[in-house]
Amino acid sequence: MALDRSNPVPNDLSAFWMPFTANRQFKKTPRMFVSADRMHYKTADGREVLDGTAGLWCCNAGHNRPKIVEAIRQQAGELDYAPAFQMGHPKAFDLANRLRDLAPPPFEHVFFTNSGSEAVDTALKIAIAYQRAIGQGTRTRLIGRERGYHGVGFGGISVGGIVNNRKFFGTLMTGVDHLPHTHLPAQNAFSRGQPDHGAHLADELERIVALHGPETIAAVIVEPMAGSTGVLMPPKGYLEKLREICTRHGILLIFDEVITGFGRLGSPFAADHFGVMPDMITCAKGLTNGVIPMGAVLATKDIHDAFMQGPEHLIELFHGYTYSGNPIASAAGLATLETYREEGLFERAAEMAPYWEDAVHSLRDCPHVIDIRNMGLIAGIELEPIPGEPTKRAFSAFLEAYEKGVLIRTTGDIIAMSPPLIIEKAHIDQLVGTLRDILHRLH
Ligand SMILES: Cc1ncc(COP(=O)(O)O)c(C=O)c1O
Repeated sequence: MALDRSNPVPNDLSAFWMPFTANRQFKKTPRMFVSADRMHYKTADGREVLDGTAGLWCCNAGHNRPKIVEAIRQQAGELDYAPAFQMGHPKAFDLANRLRDLAPPPFEHVFFTNSGSEAVDTALKIAIAYQRAIGQGTRTRLIGRERGYHGVGFGGISVGGIVNNRKFFGTLMTGVDHLPHTHLPAQNAFSRGQPDHGAHLADELERIVALHGPETIAAVIVEPMAGSTGVLMPPKGYLEKLREICTRHGILLIFDEVITGFGRLGSPFAADHFGVMPDMITCAKGLTNGVIPMGAVLATKDIHDAFMQGPEHLIELFHGYTYSGNPIASAAGLATLETYREEGLFERAAEMAPYWEDAVHSLRDCPHVIDIRNMGLIAGIELEPIPGEPTKRAFSAFLEAYEKGVLIRTTGDIIAMSPPLIIEKAHIDQLVGTLRDILHRLH
């Protein structure tokens, strides 16, 4: 069907099967963005909507940032595509070097993917292949965590722990076990930053190791701060314990930093923020400010070097994507990192975090609120579900917020907010003020 140029919304919305969306609800009352600039989206009916979620946790520098737009324009005209296998182009190497310089010291090598899901599956594959390369070929098991989100590939949903993302898709990968999640509302509700209780939950890894035998386990993967399940902070001491147990048993630790990478917690990576070093980091989203699909796995020298053996004309790792290190994505990544650096956005997030924390916790006494959690520029506000109708209350809040000009995100009955790091105090006031009004009127 032809597009009516006077009305930017197509007449026929039926063909596009939308991801993670209530398709029928959406197509009855579509919510369309047609442009964006800095902190705001513009809707098809000409309204401004304040971006309280950095798109989908990805536009950390805000929208329509000139350096990034120009880099993409230029690169498209100069070198649109170069084969990713057995050929190279300079910008992928430049970007890998810049990432190495930004990342904590142990991470010296970068494997490019096109998304967070692919970064996760890549890291899991590297973990198993690494163990084999160092003579530990029996280590094939992977350990994830309940409520974990690691994207939607079969590897990611297997180690992930969000029930609806798993239960429709058969038997998944075998040889996977799960740590318990760390949500302890009875002890930790309304914690600011890391909650006090729950470090002992990392000891469950000892139980899993004893059950299967350490010589069968390749890696543990966790989000250092779990975002998509509704913003769960690691309890104090929890990540340190996981690190210690993994090291003691020769198990690799992977931090999935697809959300926490690139300043969300006020430092380049959550590994920096918590002072706990994993063996691999997965990232995506903020790597290109969400503008062009790109993900990456950061690996230590030890992991990388374990593969660099045998005859030099042979491929060392039989893995990669047509678009690994795509020129336009690489150009966008370079311009994005430059924008973060020039504008000091990670430091800015850290400076703004106390104001953000006070603002979101001011919602504590609003109706329906049973918990508020925050760190850096991220917050989760958990609502009491409507009996018999889980998710409905938070979804109504999301729809209301959109009507009132702010974009939030909900998962279950939890409202999640993660604004661009360029947010001003007045925007925070608007976001929180709008939510307060909505919570007071919500059923
Ligand atoms: C921690 C984590 N890992 C992986 C992913 C998947 O990323 P993508 O949607 O780019 O595949 C996400 C997406 O939200 C995520 O939050």
